[in-house]
Amino acid sequence: MRVVVVGLGYVGSVCSACLASHGHEVMGVDLSEFKVGCIERGESPIVETGLPAMIARERKAGRLRATTRIADAMVGAEVVLLCVGTPSAADGSLDLTHVKRSCAEVGASLANNGVRTTIVMRSTMLPGSVEEQLLPVLEQASGMKAGDGFGIAYNPEFLREGSAVADFEGALYTVIGADDPGSADALKRLYHDVGGELLVTAIRTAEMLKYVNNAFHALKVAFANEIGRLSQRERVDSHEVMRLFLKDTRLNVSPAYLMPGFAFGGSCLPKDLRAITSRSVAHHLELPVLQNILRSNDEHIEAAIHLIERLKKRRVGVLGLSFKAGTDDLRESPILRVIGTLVGKGYSVLLHDPNLDMERVLGANRRFVEDEVPYLPERMRHTVDEVLRDSEVVVIANGSAEYRELGPRLVAGQVLVDLVHAVDPATVRNAEYHGLAW
Ligand SMILES: NC(=O)c1ccc[n+]([C@@H]2O[C@H](COP(=O)([O-])OP(=O)(O)OC[C@H]3O[C@@H](n4cnc5c(N)ncnc54)[C@H](O)[C@@H]3O)[C@@H](O)[C@H]2O)c1
Repeated sequence: MRVVVVGLGYVGSVCSACLASHGHEVMGVDLSEFKVGCIERGESPIVETGLPAMIARERKAGRLRATTRIADAMVGAEVVLLCVGTPSAADGSLDLTHVKRSCAEVGASLANNGVRTTIVMRSTMLPGSVEEQLLPVLEQASGMKAGDGFGIAYNPEFLREGSAVADFEGALYTVIGADDPGSADALKRLYHDVGGELLVTAIRTAEMLKYVNNAFHALKVAFANEIGRLSQRERVDSHEVMRLFLKDTRLNVSPAYLMPGFAFGGSCLPKDLRAITSRSVAHHLELPVLQNILRSNDEHIEAAIHLIERLKKRRVGVLGLSFKAGTDDLRESPILRVIGTLVGKGYSVLLHDPNLDMERVLGANRRFVEDEVPYLPERMRHTVDEVLRDSEVVVIANGSAEYRELGPRLVAGQVLVDLVHAVDPATVRNAEYHGLAW
């Protein structure tokens, strides 16, 4: 099929390349000339396992292209996937500005596009967003009626950064939120040979499902981390206790996210929790479980800061800046709050992350660096050795493979603060080892 993907970020670039690899003719669109340039040169705009090779191959085969102009991409488009960001507004509510703007542009190009187009929202958005906020924009911009002139659907994205390509290929199921058969059929054709079982449901249900997933994942992380902090005080091995807990697969659904580690972060869980709690407040609903997950997560970040401060050493090296291994995504990475606090208190801080190339970060996200992490460029080091050499305290903040083997390389007088249970404490023979919650 001829597919347009609007937004070439973490979701859109993976969708584009994977759909092209299944034989679809894909045109990606982004406002960022950097990201469009990457795709056009056959390079990946993000760090993601397996993606660079796939983009290079699909670009060469002519199935994947990109442009900065939606209007240029729309001719003959049978399916348009909207994958633009839906960040938190200042009050925590959901900000649909980017999706509305792209709907207006897509709508304006619908009339002369030559085929029936189904517009599919992939961005995370609260129930009612498609029907009440986006449909009117599309109808007004196109002068057409949904169902008649064009189709509309919601197709939640469940990929995890770091294993996004494998998640796309190995999905257990694909949820198609569609309220008319024509739109559901378009998505069934798009996913006919990938995406597991195809489940069709109402648009509102599909919108809600994404929040149910993310709230539950966040709840599991927060729960495991509270168990970790309590177990540590009780001198109980938190990983052993959770391993035993998870043996009961009849009552405890899956082990994912249930081992004590560092706080959750990234571009989805915090923002999506803020959006549903802000919605619950608007409904005057008391939902104390959901409303306190972020508080619990914040306490876990504070616990990490206190642990480092209690060591009374001023030279700190932090390994791993993105919210988990295998991605270069810095958005809402919890370690950035720890680093910001230490830098603010005058600690000498050196940083390393195997997936962060400062040139690329500044190319794609200069505003983010200047506004949120201005301390980053001068403190980043290319190698772990440069950080180890000058640090009294070494903090491991994500589980990148090269950090897992660090134990024997630490010397007497150094302290290892392991926030993610990356290192086997038995391998730290010369230095002190502190686990965050174990
Ligand atoms: N990152 C994830 O792991 C993940 C997983 C599932 C769902 N989601 C959801 O998917 C959506 C996208 O997330 P992301 O992480 O890919 O965001 P992102 O910020 O990495 O990418 C969004 C892209 O959209 C582009 N864009 C914004 N407005 C545009 C416009 N008018 N025209 C063209 N391009 C435009 C931006 O330049 C950016 O490159 C969000 O709603 C997010 O909640 C993300």
